[in-house]
Amino acid sequence: MASTSRLSGLRNISVDERRAAVAEAIGGDIDLTPLAGDGLSIEQADRMIENVIGQIGIPVGVATNVIVNGRDVLVPMATEEPSVVAAVSNIARMARRFGGIVTTSTEPLMQAQVQLLDIADPQGARARILEARDEILTLANEQDPMLVQVGGGARDLLVRTIHGILGDHLVVHLVVNVGDAMGANAVNTMAEAIAPRLAEIARGRSLLRILTNLADLRVTRARVAIHPDEIGGSEVVANMVTGANLAYDDPYRAATHNKGIMNGISAVALATGNDTRAVEAGAHSYAARDGQYRALSRFEQDADGNLVATLELPMAVGLVGGATKSHPAARAAVAMTEVSTARELAEIISAVGLLQNVAAVRALAAEGIQRGHMGLHARNVAVAAGAVGAEVDAVAAALVARRAVRSDIAVTVLAELRASE
Ligand code: MEV
Repeated sequence: MASTSRLSGLRNISVDERRAAVAEAIGGDIDLTPLAGDGLSIEQADRMIENVIGQIGIPVGVATNVIVNGRDVLVPMATEEPSVVAAVSNIARMARRFGGIVTTSTEPLMQAQVQLLDIADPQGARARILEARDEILTLANEQDPMLVQVGGGARDLLVRTIHGILGDHLVVHLVVNVGDAMGANAVNTMAEAIAPRLAEIARGRSLLRILTNLADLRVTRARVAIHPDEIGGSEVVANMVTGANLAYDDPYRAATHNKGIMNGISAVALATGNDTRAVEAGAHSYAARDGQYRALSRFEQDADGNLVATLELPMAVGLVGGATKSHPAARAAVAMTEVSTARELAEIISAVGLLQNVAAVRALAAEGIQRGHMGLHARNVAVAAGAVGAEVDAVAAALVARRAVRSDIAVTVLAELRASE
């Protein structure tokens, strides 16, 4: 465990010094150098996908101050969006008063779907499939002895009747404990293996055989409590609750509220080489699980007036397989988190999502999002205008002071600055 995640002064030191500070806080011999440059050689990139013509760099920042279940953790975040890393670190600092973020999660249960069609007696077929449950689970497990050996494997069979444009037909869900994998390969292989037997039992045919990203049996939950004094007072807390409640009731606000959550979640998922689209699909479909798209998080005030924010969502991330293992920078990022199971990583990711969400809702309920955002955005505008080195902060400060973070003004300010030197 990191000796502390409270690394102050990071802003004022170089990138190399920051990496060294993180490595020192974590202790042991952690090698963060793969995060230093390209992260991935072009040869490695060429082996990862097809028709490679290059790669695109995304900054990786470290979120500080984070405590998850009593453990200090320095969290890697890959994002192109300014203010995200700072916002997480800021709320994480406030959350330390009550011990940080508390998380729980279910077993890593992924589900694969097998679509069954052309069945004369869908309900009879459903019963026959459930009667053959043990046989089907055994057949599924034969596909992945390694997974079974490490304690995972097929656990259950659910048969759903779909009433829709195809008329009544069946979809079988194979529930699989995928251990420390994201699980797509394992469950897809099993689904393809059991489909012919399912079709035979149903006396119909099988069509689609693929995992569902609505991984609603593999959820993580995060809870954070923050004292009003830490976050701007009781009125801010009350306004945060009111603002967050709009996101529960209104899909238009819910989309943006959840986007804020995903600012944190996708950043950690990407840094650790996980499939961000799978996590996003799971999050948004879960947000609509009762038929209306809603906020994934809830905000309340407890009996003492503290803010209590909670988040629950599917989190299909892994530690083995995929880019998590093959991308050197992702490996270094995972090492930073010091997790030993995919569940631990999933819980850290959801904690960061919640912190990011609290930060956004706080800003919206208090001074508005633009003040903090613009300060950081100004640096990007300064760089785009041609500022280098110390000029970046000088031009950014001038833009904020003029309350005009605009590229044309940045060019003028930069010219004035250079003329005055
Ligand atoms: C911007 O990337 C995210 C926010 O819009 C989230 C929110 O509105 O809650 C600030």
